[in-house]
Amino acid sequence: MSISLVILAAGMGSRMNSARPKVLHPIGGAPLLAHAMRAGDILEPERVVVVTGHGAEAVAKAAKTANPDVLIAHQAEQLGTAHAVAQARAALEGFTGDVVILYGDTPFVSPETLERMREARERHAVVVLGFEAADPGRYGRLILNGEMLERIVEYKDATEEERAITLCNSGVVCADATALFQLIDSVGNDNAAGEYYLTDIVAIARQKGLSVGAVRCDEAETLGINTRAELAAAEVAFQTRARAEALENGVTLIAPETIYFSLDTVIGRDAVVGPNVVFAPGVTVESDATIRAFCHLEGCHVSRGATVGPFARLRPDAYLAEDVHVGNFVEIKNANIDEGAKVNHLTYIGDADVGEGSNIGAGTITCNYDGVFKHRTTIGKNVFVGSDTMLVAPVRLGDGAMTGSGSVITEDVPAGALALGRARQENKPGLATRLMERLKAKKAAAKKEG
Ligand code: UD1
Ligand code: MG
Repeated sequence: MSISLVILAAGMGSRMNSARPKVLHPIGGAPLLAHAMRAGDILEPERVVVVTGHGAEAVAKAAKTANPDVLIAHQAEQLGTAHAVAQARAALEGFTGDVVILYGDTPFVSPETLERMREARERHAVVVLGFEAADPGRYGRLILNGEMLERIVEYKDATEEERAITLCNSGVVCADATALFQLIDSVGNDNAAGEYYLTDIVAIARQKGLSVGAVRCDEAETLGINTRAELAAAEVAFQTRARAEALENGVTLIAPETIYFSLDTVIGRDAVVGPNVVFAPGVTVESDATIRAFCHLEGCHVSRGATVGPFARLRPDAYLAEDVHVGNFVEIKNANIDEGAKVNHLTYIGDADVGEGSNIGAGTITCNYDGVFKHRTTIGKNVFVGSDTMLVAPVRLGDGAMTGSGSVITEDVPAGALALGRARQENKPGLATRLMERLKAKKAAAKKEG
């Protein structure tokens, strides 16, 4: 059975107290919406439809970043969850499989749970995901009759007796596409909120004699984010899970609770990560690489056997080949560092290529920016860049070239050449001693007078 996803993301999320649409707030460096979309990946959806409303343009853009094939349905007015799903009808035209409905602000539904819902669909026309709530609060309540889900009552419309039920609605629903839209056509808005409730499809399905089942999951999976406090708690939950996953995948984390991951972080087996490392979005680290303490990595690739840090910053499009060494207080941006090259101390390499086996001395800077344009520095193989060299880009250093310490290199250096771009040193014999004596005498005279 093929599956399509409908992800509801039209709500404003007023309790976030934010100008930004709720589903665009990030955890693990990715918008909540991307997490929800990722959760559905396990079902290998044929189509993914995101229903936008508040901040539609920005939400659609984030959805397309997460999945370029996503279909966008617009809900101009937020008239309720059933109305939101109805907006996806056109995008699902001609689709005959099952639809799974997810919320854009509910990032943690597990793949196993979605698999169990798919299985339960073999026995029921409609399957709803429920959970036992520690504090049922304002969730919709599931009214069961034996194994059959008879209806869902929204908190606002519930009696005291119904409010005492602790089995709650997560919002996740799975149903055949054709049946789902037929059921939604029968949903009205005669209720306490004056909204078209998706939850009403349960009672309507039962009236039609259709079977409706409930699958239960852990409450943590249905955690919806409505406030900044919940966002912060979700970040903690995400990081806890990401750390556990990394350990399970054979990555050594010396102090797991101090490592921050992004949704898309990929780290190979037997990589070692020291304390206090941040993996911002877009990082891949291959097996056997070592990231020492206090590094910040973003949008970069670290190959097998490479060593980074402590205290290094890898910015977007830094590519470290195998066995590269990047040491302390080094920043690398948009640069390819080839196999075995070393950039060990206090250096900025930006918009550059560093060839195989080259050694970049302490304090080297690629002067890549002229205030308007960025320029490239190209360093060949086995080049030795002396400490404190300023490489004023655009500039090229040929294979096996050297630069003297403290040089300002403004012109290309041919292969095998030594470039010296600094003032010539002059020694004045005895001058230091004489100068000191004069200064000390001056100080003594001033003391006498004062
Ligand atoms: C909904 C459920 C409730 C369940 C709870 C779980 C209904 C009627 N109620 O209530 O049973 O316990 O979720 O969190 O379905 N949305 C739209 N367009 C709309 C309305 C909502 O896209 O017109 C989206 C929201 O952005 C959100 C989701 O649907 O992602 C749920 O809407 P929300 O208003 O939070 O529903 P609840 O009242 O929490
Ligand atoms: Mg809600």
